Amino acid sequence: MPAISASAPGKSILFGEHAVVYGYPAIAVPILDVNLSVIVQALPTDNRIQIVNRNLDEDFFLERDAPNNSYARALEAIRRNLAVKRLPAMRLTMSSNIPVASGLGSSAAFAVALTRSVTRFLGFDLTIERLNAIAFEIEKFQHGTPSGIDNTVITYQKPIFFQKDKPVEFLAPGAPLTLLFANSGIPSLTKEVVFQLRRQREENPALVNAQFDEIASITHRAREMITLGNHSEIGHLMLENHHCLRELGLSLPELDHLVDMAVEAGAFGAKLCGSGKGGNVAALIPHGERQTITDRLMTEGAAACLASTVKPSHIIP
Ligand code: PMV
Repeated sequence: MPAISASAPGKSILFGEHAVVYGYPAIAVPILDVNLSVIVQALPTDNRIQIVNRNLDEDFFLERDAPNNSYARALEAIRRNLAVKRLPAMRLTMSSNIPVASGLGSSAAFAVALTRSVTRFLGFDLTIERLNAIAFEIEKFQHGTPSGIDNTVITYQKPIFFQKDKPVEFLAPGAPLTLLFANSGIPSLTKEVVFQLRRQREENPALVNAQFDEIASITHRAREMITLGNHSEIGHLMLENHHCLRELGLSLPELDHLVDMAVEAGAFGAKLCGSGKGGNVAALIPHGERQTITDRLMTEGAAACLASTVKPSHIIP
C-alpha cells in the first residue's frame, strides 16, 4: 500500500469564542501559513500501530488495550465511524508548526489531518461533511464540550460564520485580512477555561448571558464589515469583543497589554483569540506594517509572533 499523507491548517476565531459553545454565532478563519501533517504507511511485519510524533519526540507502538491514550481514542473514533472491524498495522508520522495550547487550532488540525489520512489509507473516499463529523467526535475527547467551530473551519479551510446545529455559512471577505498573532507564551487549556466559564454561567446566568448577547451582536456586525472589507470597523469590533471577554474574566493583564500595544503600534484592532487566559492575541493590521508591529509586540512581552493573510484566493464564490 502506498503511503498516504494529509495536512490541515491552523485557525483563528475572530469573533464569538465561548459564546459559540452556547449556540451563539462566531466567525473563524483558516490560518494557512501553518499546518499539521500526518503520513500513514503500511507496516508489513507487525500488527501494531506505530506513532511517530516529530514535535513531541515520540516514537512508540500503541497498545491495543490502552483506551486512554489520545491517539488510540482518536483512531477508535475513526474505526467506529467507518464500521471496520480492526485497523491494520500502520505507522503514523506527525509533524506540525502550529503552536500548541495557544488557540491556533493544533488539536483540531490533528483531528482533521488524522481523519483525512487514515480514511484515505483505508480506501474510503468520505464526503467533507462526514470528515468534519468524525473530526468533531475526536475533538470531543480533547475538549469535552466543543462547539465544533475549530474542526469545521479547519476541515473546510474557508472563513466561516458558524452557529451550532445550523448549516455552516462561508464568508467572502471584501478585502484581504492581514492578521498578526502575538503569543503571550502563557499556555491555556481550552477544556479548563470552558469549564470555569460554564460554572460562572451557572452561578450568574444573567451576567454571562448579557455578555454573550453583546458578543452575538458584535459578531453579526462583524460579518457585515468583513464582507465589506472595512478594516477599521472590523478592528473596532475586535476591541469591543475583547472588552466583553475581559468582562467575563477570560483575559489576563499580559493579553490586555498586547492588545493595547498592537493598537498603539498601528493595528486596526486586536483581541484575545480562542479560549483566553493565555494563548494568542490576534491583531488586524495594515499589510505593510507587519514588521513594525511585530517588533513592537516582541519588545512588549510577546513570546512569538506570526503573521498570516486571509487572501482573496481563500475566498469562495
Ligand atoms: O482555544 P481554542 O482554539 O481551542 O478555541 C476555543 C474556542 C471556544 O469557543 C472557547 C471553545 C469552542 O469549542 O468553541
